[in-house]
Amino acid sequence: MEALRLYLKNYRNIDEMTLDFEKNVNIFIGKNGQGKTNILEALYYFACQKSFRGAKNRELIKWDKDFSEATLDFLSRGRDFHAVTRIKKTAGRENFLNGVKKRRAHEMIGVFNAVIFAPEHLGLIKDGPSVRRSVIDFSLSQTDGEYFAALDKYKKVLEQKNSFLRASDGRADRDMLSVWNEQLSVPASVIIGRRGEFIESLSKLSEARQLDISGGAERLTLSYVPSIDVTQPGDIYEALNSKYDAENRAGVSVAGPHRDDMDILINGRAAKTFASQGQQRSAVLSLKLSECDLFYEKQGEYPALLLDDILSELDRVRQSYIVEAIRDRQIFLTCCDEESIEKIKNGRRFYITGGAAADIKEG
Ligand SMILES: Nc1ncnc2c1ncn2[C@@H]1O[C@H](COP(=O)(O)OP(=O)(O)O)[C@@H](O)[C@H]1O
Ligand SMILES: [Mg+2]
Repeated sequence: MEALRLYLKNYRNIDEMTLDFEKNVNIFIGKNGQGKTNILEALYYFACQKSFRGAKNRELIKWDKDFSEATLDFLSRGRDFHAVTRIKKTAGRENFLNGVKKRRAHEMIGVFNAVIFAPEHLGLIKDGPSVRRSVIDFSLSQTDGEYFAALDKYKKVLEQKNSFLRASDGRADRDMLSVWNEQLSVPASVIIGRRGEFIESLSKLSEARQLDISGGAERLTLSYVPSIDVTQPGDIYEALNSKYDAENRAGVSVAGPHRDDMDILINGRAAKTFASQGQQRSAVLSLKLSECDLFYEKQGEYPALLLDDILSELDRVRQSYIVEAIRDRQIFLTCCDEESIEKIKNGRRFYITGGAAADIKEG
């Protein structure tokens, strides 16, 4: 995977910007609030068709403008691609891939792949399940259009079911509720099946990574904790229907993939409760690098790796590990000062101020 050129127009705080990238290391340097993460967010958008920060499409448009445009030229498995995404305040989004209009977002995915490691991922182990679900979803959605579409459908129906439950005020009609459950059961079956396979593969790879980082001392394992323990649509439908009383009382949907989690264990114990801060950081690093390894297994090449202010969060040993591990792929990283990236000698440096890039220096 190689991003060649990113063009942004009216994207967040960026008026207009064209960035030509280096094959390996690209570094965005600047004070807080200048637009560094905005650039990574725009790049990652081409992988997932969503903001990794959870922003809505219209929030990506520069405040005083009514549209935003992002264009990415990249190489994927030896082929040239030109992707365009235009978001209009009033008319939604338009996507083009190599000049062909793509009506559905999932038709844009599977060509540009990226892994992002941002400060919020440092809480992957100790925070609640939503960060873990989000990492799984962003990763799976990139290579699996069916997963992308199932997740989208599931979320839409779930929202409708929840508004129905809220409006029913404890008197929800059982048959009406089961209609929503039937609609949820098909996408839920895709989601549960794929998450199970994904976590199993990721577990094998991150076990190897963590053994390597810890000098053989720590065995990291992951296991899927599905909210409902069945995989076929019919069984899922039954399982959801059996929650009628609880859901009616709670006024919200209480079971399904939106309540899934993933257990993270180090040497057989829950990392959340037993691991030190340092071990947790290493484990997150293992997880992120093994996410890259999994893309390599599936796609035959490494994804672009985006590191948002991450090197300054890691100690010297883990910094060196990262720098060694990423020699053979394209990376994009942001930092506030050059001291925090002194280990990285090469690369193109972009100095970002007020949404503009200047003083581009070759390493
Ligand atoms: N839609 C928008 N329009 C204009 N400015 C925005 C928009 N969204 C965010 N910003 C601005 O972008 C800046 C944050 O950029 P960011 O990339 O997160 O900074 P950093 O360089 O610290 O990573 C802030 O100044 C914020 O006010
Ligand atoms: Mg930032």
